[in-house]
Amino acid sequence: MKGIIIAGGKGTRLCPLTNVISKPLLPVYDKPMIYYPLAILMEAGIKEILIITTPEDKHRFMNLLGDGSQLGISIKFKVEPSPKGIAQAFIIGEEFIGNEPVTLILGDNIFYGHGLTSLLRKAISLKKGATIFGYYVKDPYRFGVVEFNDRKEVINLEEKPAQPKTNYAVTGLYVYDHRVVNIAKKIKPSEKGELEITDVNKAYLELGDLHVELLGNGYSWFDTGTHTSLYQAGQFIEETEKNEKIKIGCIEEIAFREKLITKSQLMKLALSLEKSEYGQYLKNLSKKIK
Ligand code: G1P
Repeated sequence: MKGIIIAGGKGTRLCPLTNVISKPLLPVYDKPMIYYPLAILMEAGIKEILIITTPEDKHRFMNLLGDGSQLGISIKFKVEPSPKGIAQAFIIGEEFIGNEPVTLILGDNIFYGHGLTSLLRKAISLKKGATIFGYYVKDPYRFGVVEFNDRKEVINLEEKPAQPKTNYAVTGLYVYDHRVVNIAKKIKPSEKGELEITDVNKAYLELGDLHVELLGNGYSWFDTGTHTSLYQAGQFIEETEKNEKIKIGCIEEIAFREKLITKSQLMKLALSLEKSEYGQYLKNLSKKIK
C-alpha cells in the first residue's frame, strides 16, 4: 500500500496567512499541519509516501521531513505544475503507485478518533474497490456530499452542491485499489477545470465498488479551509492534548511505537527539539517506554 499526501494548491481561502507559505506548513497548535495527515498514514502502517507539492514549496517540505529515513519510512516529493484538482495526484503519482493500491489524504485534513486506525486498516485490507469516509457537518455545501437510500447504501455523490441532499461530507481520506490511475485518466475536468476526486469516487460507485464508512460520535474531523476551522482545529488539538496528556499527530512517537525507529533514534530526534515542549514530550517518552 502506497500513501499520497496532497500539499499543493495556493491556499487562497486562507490569505494573507498563505501569501508566502503553503497551507500544510501552517501551525496547528504545536506542529505543522502536514504532521497530522502524515501521522494518519504512518499509523495505518503505510511506509512509502509521496508528497505532492508546488514548485515553490517543495524545498520547504523537504527541509521539514527529509527523505523520511529519520522516521523509518520513505518520503518522496513530486511537484504539481499547476493546481488541476485532487485527482491529478494519481496521474502525477502514476509511477510511484505502480500496480499497488493507494491511500490518499489531503494535507489540510485533521482527523482524531480512537477507532480510526483500525477503520483505515480494515479499508486497506479490502484490496478491491474504494473506501471513503463520511462525517456529519453543519455546512455540507463546502464539501463533497454523500447521498444514501433507506438502507444506508450510497446512491450518489455531489461536489459542493448548492443544495446538499444530506449533511454527510466526504472527508479528505480515500483508499483505492490500483485501478485508480486509469480511472483518473478517464475523468473529464469539471467546470472549474479541475479533475475532481468526487468524479473518481462516482466512477467506483458506478462499478459497484465504492464503500463508505461513516465516522460517527467519537471522531473529530477538521478541514482547515477557513480561518475559523483552522483556529478551531488548533484549539481542539490543544485541549485534547492537555486533557488526555498525549500528543496528536506526533510522527516521531508513531515511528517509535510502530517499531520503525529505535529508542536511541527517538532520543536523538527529541534532543534536536529539546528547547520546545514538543521535544520535552519526546524526551520523556523515550525515557518512559521500554
Ligand atoms: C476537497 C474535495 C471535497 C472534500 C474536501 C475534504 O475539497 O473536493 O470533495 O469533501 O476536499 O476536505 P477542497 O477542500 O479541496 O475544496
